Amino acid sequence: MKTKIVKSNGISGTIRLAGDKSISHRAALFAALATGQSSIENFLDAGVTRVLLNNLTKLGVTWQMAGNTLTVEGNGIGGLKEPTDVLFCGNSATTLRLLAGVIAAAGLDATLDGSDGLRKRPMKRIIEPLHSMGVPLKGSDSNTAPLKFQKRSLFDPLEGQNISLNVASAQVKTCVLLAGLGANTPIIVNEPAQSRDHTERLLKLIGAAITVDEANHSIRLIIPDEIMLNPLDLTIPGDISSAAFLIVAALIIPNSSLRIENVGLNPTRTGLLDVLIEMGGQISILDERVENNEPVGTIEVRSSELVGIEIDGDTIVRMIDEFPIFAIAAVCSEGKTTVRDATELRYKETDRISVLSGELLNLGVDIEEKPGGFIIEGGKGISGGECNGHGDHRLAMSLSILGTVSEQPIIVKGTGIIKESFPNFFELLTSLGVDSINLYE
Ligand code: S3P
Repeated sequence: MKTKIVKSNGISGTIRLAGDKSISHRAALFAALATGQSSIENFLDAGVTRVLLNNLTKLGVTWQMAGNTLTVEGNGIGGLKEPTDVLFCGNSATTLRLLAGVIAAAGLDATLDGSDGLRKRPMKRIIEPLHSMGVPLKGSDSNTAPLKFQKRSLFDPLEGQNISLNVASAQVKTCVLLAGLGANTPIIVNEPAQSRDHTERLLKLIGAAITVDEANHSIRLIIPDEIMLNPLDLTIPGDISSAAFLIVAALIIPNSSLRIENVGLNPTRTGLLDVLIEMGGQISILDERVENNEPVGTIEVRSSELVGIEIDGDTIVRMIDEFPIFAIAAVCSEGKTTVRDATELRYKETDRISVLSGELLNLGVDIEEKPGGFIIEGGKGISGGECNGHGDHRLAMSLSILGTVSEQPIIVKGTGIIKESFPNFFELLTSLGVDSINLYE
């Protein structure tokens, strides 16, 4: 599918968003590992979470979606069944890397695989620590999916380790911590910078013995003789990474005013908000509170005159998913924006530095690709044209938002992929005052 997006005269409204993608993944998975029935409200029902749920079915877990409430019957880690079929993870690296930790802990004979895109994502980062714990696992010759796990007796527990990750990745951290549930000694994970900490918060909520040394980005998980995780009863906050597209839209489209309620405000995820405020964005945070161990609140945004900025260091990991839409904010800002230290972007759904630079360059943006980021000279206006989302949901949404401020319409090819994480993206934009027309390729 391709979509034509027309210049908007302003967006306004009050909205709530579907549940955070990272928390939805973890909530479904931890509910499957708990003992008893879990109820999860505002669960993100999208492509990436459906692949996880289908795999839970293959592992013998029963679940039900009614509206946006997910109920899961958990039978503990030992209650998981050996799958008779490949655990197919589609485009979702989160599903694959998190499930890898669970399969490792449960000692199951299983194969994890995914789409051609997912088969290109690096898996050495989980294979190595899992090997060090004694997990019998093999990836492809280039250390990618499919990942084949051999059966391991639960009388032969994994070895807890003190593992130092060389990349700040919440997926890797979570994989290792989940594998740690099958170890007989504590597992300690040290990160080079703090990645999103939803796993730690949720594990604490369901009774795991986990301690976090925030200053040193170090997490210690101790497994009691018998692991018994409590079921969950929670509401997932709206996804801050989905809100990001609408926040930038409200900032760059003149005459806009937007209120997003019940959105997640976990500080490991709010790097983009801090950066946009520093660029001159009129963004207010209201009604801040903690629900189910996660910070939540309301974000109000008004059209703003933005100026360019330099970003590097620890801020990168706090906004790792937001660079495609951040680049659109930079295009609409006066002056130069520089991004450094962001090589990790090359290992996302696409090589986001290269693909983003290529697409923006084609649309006439003054952008220069760098090994670890990019430089954009903003404030020069956009005339319109055709571009491609390259099978990357966040790139397709970001290019669509650029269409809302472009003199002539922008046509984005490959917008079908957006349903992987934000199924009602265009519907919501339309309700706020953006015209978009779906054209079939
Ligand atoms: C995620 C972690 C991040 C992020 C992804 C979701 C998670 O990936 O990009 O969208 O839910 O743990 P990395 O761990 O690879 O940085």
